[in-house]
Amino acid sequence: MTYEYIITEKPAEGVGLIRLNRPKALNALSTPLLHEVGDALRAFDADDSVGAIVLTGDDRAFAAGADIKEMSGTSFSDMLVNGGLIEAFDFSKITKPIIAAVSGFALGGGCEIAMMCDMIVASETAVFGQPEINLGIIPGGGGTQRLTHAVGKALAMEIILTDRRLSAQEALHYGLVNRVVAPEVYLQEAIKLAQKVASKSRVAVRIAKEAINKAYELSLREGLEHEVRGFKLLFGTEDRQEGMNAFVEKRPPQWKHR
Ligand code: CAA
Repeated sequence: MTYEYIITEKPAEGVGLIRLNRPKALNALSTPLLHEVGDALRAFDADDSVGAIVLTGDDRAFAAGADIKEMSGTSFSDMLVNGGLIEAFDFSKITKPIIAAVSGFALGGGCEIAMMCDMIVASETAVFGQPEINLGIIPGGGGTQRLTHAVGKALAMEIILTDRRLSAQEALHYGLVNRVVAPEVYLQEAIKLAQKVASKSRVAVRIAKEAINKAYELSLREGLEHEVRGFKLLFGTEDRQEGMNAFVEKRPPQWKHR
């Protein structure tokens, strides 16, 4: 499939890559771009040759937020009735792990999209922030919720109420990102991490991703019950038998992903 605002490729075994491709607009997230990202994510999710997905922008910007020029023409009733571009801001149904490879600006919706991903590899140049307050709005792609879960209430308040930005090192310190690497290698590192995930049993990875995400939605008791159900469910898979046989026989497992 060909796209106008993104580029997709398979740069390594088991890995699907999506590059945001509006460099002149710092990868501002317009409705058509967001729809393409959603379509590409769903296509990789359904592709048996892909075990993990990397989402990236370019060296200058992961994404500088929702497209302000598009939003400036959105009326109140349009937003209320049709949802504007905010309706396209949800990748939570993707079952395969998504790794954000972030360089440069990850602002507003850009920061929110990175936080929707399951892991973040940041270049030393990455800057995270939620500057919506400067536009007279608040984050609408999950920023008030995911950022607060990630960095805690006090810092989330400062970031969202005052447009305080986080450097890559600060983001690492506060647990927003998995690692910070040199600008020359951030994408390669994200692809390597995706390859590592893709080399595991995909049924186990899927159940694990789902269970971890439940930690944000359920009480501890409900979350623990969800985890145990997933644990028991995996005893019905060929991969569970293979993984345990391979351990006993001192050989690497041959996953069937079922
Ligand atoms: N929407 C639309 N266009 C954008 C954009 C955005 N979010 N961010 C940058 N651009 C465009 C600029 O308009 C400019 O285009 P022109 O050359 O046609 O004028 C081009 O990208 C380059 O940007 P700058 O000239 O501003 O580059 P800079 O290096 O001087 O500044 C920046 C970079 C600090 C990121 C600055 O562009 C900026 O502040 N961008 C807006 C950041 C922002 O407010 N993001 C939040 C958006 S709202 C949101 O995301 C809501 C939500 O929660 C879903």
